[in-house]
Amino acid sequence: MIKAILYNTQTGSCKRYAEELSRTLVLPVYSVDDHPAIADGEVIYVSWVMAGSVVGYAKVKKQVPVAAVCAVGMAPAGPYGVKAGREKNKVPASVGYFCLQGGFNINKLPLPMKLIMQWKVKDIAKRLESKRAKTPLSAQEQATYVMATRGQGEPASWDVSEVVAWARSR
Ligand SMILES: Cc1cc2nc3c(=O)[nH]c(=O)nc-3n(C[C@H](O)[C@H](O)[C@H](O)COP(=O)(O)O)c2cc1C
Repeated sequence: MIKAILYNTQTGSCKRYAEELSRTLVLPVYSVDDHPAIADGEVIYVSWVMAGSVVGYAKVKKQVPVAAVCAVGMAPAGPYGVKAGREKNKVPASVGYFCLQGGFNINKLPLPMKLIMQWKVKDIAKRLESKRAKTPLSAQEQATYVMATRGQGEPASWDVSEVVAWARSR
């Protein structure tokens, strides 16, 4: 049984998603850095994606049973992301895996990450521009493009309905 939502955030997106899940599923929500012992139950783990890795998942899964992982990244969410994310993070089929688009704010990042992303966003913008030349971008791709070109932005939507439907169907 799912007993709580745990989140790990740098710039606030995962906290926002975790709080939305907490409200909708009526479950307590805690930061992964400060939570009570979760006895006889599982958690939904909401964390940000760094170079394809769900930050902190490897550690959390040793401490508490994880029912589902919500991987929050600036990239558009989609079936490819779910498959690749599961494989990269070694999330078994018995654990739910969801990709949620989060926001981005380069000014809130610590310096080393800021430097990495200053370079990385140019790449992302270029890739989306070449795609846009052939086909219109989806709303999520457009949101990623804004993040990449302005250094900050919001996801296309803050939608947790897929996770909620999954949790309620268990
Ligand atoms: C160093 C670094 C690497 C990142 N790598 C990825 C990535 O591989 N895929 C992705 O979709 N987003 C990536 N992001 C973007 C964050 O995952 C995204 O902004 C997320 O919404 C941040 O969540 P938070 O606001 O809870 O910290 C990266 C961000 C940083 C700073």
